[in-house]
Amino acid sequence: MSTRITVVGTGYVGLVTAIGLADFGNTVIACDIDKSIIDKLSKGIPTIFEHDLEEYLKRNIESGRLMFSSQIDFSIKNADVVFVGVGTPDKPDGSADLSQIEAVVDAVAHNMNGHKIIAVKSTVPVGTNRWIENRLKTETGSTNFTVVSNPEFLREGRAMQDFFHPDRVVIGCEDESAKEVLKEIYRPLYLIQTPFVWCNFETAELIKYASNAFLATKISFINQMANLAEALGADIHQVAKTMGMDGRISPKFLHPGPGFGGSCFPKDTKAVAAMGKKHNVQMTIVEEVIRANEQQKIRVVERLKTILGSMKAKNVAVLGVAFKAETDDVRESPAIAVVEKLLEEGASVRVHDPKALDNFKKLFADRIEYCERIMDTLDEADCLLVMTEWNSYRSIDLNEAGNQMRGKTIFDARNVLDPESARKNGFEYFGTGR
Ligand code: UGA
Repeated sequence: MSTRITVVGTGYVGLVTAIGLADFGNTVIACDIDKSIIDKLSKGIPTIFEHDLEEYLKRNIESGRLMFSSQIDFSIKNADVVFVGVGTPDKPDGSADLSQIEAVVDAVAHNMNGHKIIAVKSTVPVGTNRWIENRLKTETGSTNFTVVSNPEFLREGRAMQDFFHPDRVVIGCEDESAKEVLKEIYRPLYLIQTPFVWCNFETAELIKYASNAFLATKISFINQMANLAEALGADIHQVAKTMGMDGRISPKFLHPGPGFGGSCFPKDTKAVAAMGKKHNVQMTIVEEVIRANEQQKIRVVERLKTILGSMKAKNVAVLGVAFKAETDDVRESPAIAVVEKLLEEGASVRVHDPKALDNFKKLFADRIEYCERIMDTLDEADCLLVMTEWNSYRSIDLNEAGNQMRGKTIFDARNVLDPESARKNGFEYFGTGR
């Protein structure tokens, strides 16, 4: 009989995992307490914007391998392996809020009708999987289960592709027979020779945080280097590209911009700092990365003020409000801090985004204007500010843009426009680090 899988949580991690595991040939129930999400997904309607997701979702529903349920008890009872993909948002002190994890663990304890493997995909502070194991022991009075730490490295916007072609799979597992079950579940990845890293819980948990904190560090590093390049008249793109030619450095995650955002880096860097404090270990590098990132967002408005004099009564056209391109997600997007500050400084703001306008509207309501068309955003604007690196912005007709605007300033925080062409069209062009 094949392994029955339940994935609890249908956010980015849970939903992509459920669909991906079903596509590997496993039978999967994706479970979420939010009935409206389950209703949509059961009909094959995606609840997140993600490339290729709809196609994989429909295909696996049709094959009968992927089912959805809002009944947690039923879903756990009918599983040999329970993957946990619920949220771990940050609390005001920076530490991770584990209440959703606790709820799932309690549900597993109450529905333990045979041996189960509990594979934790959510990003959890080091020590959590050990804690889950102890809690299950106490609550069930048995050891007829195995906890496994299986952190996820999906990027929003490329999550399906990342699921099927990961750089590595990390599994913190201290039980040989559970290892065999997981190897079978992930068999298609073995066949394409994906590296599997087997380790203890703490190592698996820390690999996840260390990876995200390191990538965030690269970004803050290149952002500060870009600020220095500006002051010195150097071109950060050539600097970053050439640094990246050194195999030890790699050119990835060296794109300067208005700071990192999203649901992961800001939360995970704060969690690393909080773990350091809790265990009395200096995490000054990560603390500085967080600080530098906050500064980088504010710096956008500070520079605009130097360029335009004051922001009072200035019309600013913000292109891009998603935290990065190819997503509709605005969580911790640098655009939030920037728009907030622009309004505080007395500017009027119009925003455009190919996918994220609805989500941004939930935050700013009628305090700003929202435009479906790029050129409408630019109407009578004093400044065009690029905040997200959407491809469609690379080919903006700058001649038309110039005719539409009342000012001639471009601040390209993501360096997506061609400075030469901007200047040829009469703009004063400012980028990040060039
Ligand atoms: C990140 C990691 O890349 C994933 O490996 C990880 O699984 C995920 O967090 C998670 O923990 O769940 P994601 O948040 O989707 O994925 O976004 P990234 O593509 O990593 O970008 C994060 C932020 O950094 C964005 O705001 C992006 O614009 C910014 N960034 C990225 C830069 O400013 N410069 C760069 O060179 C790269």
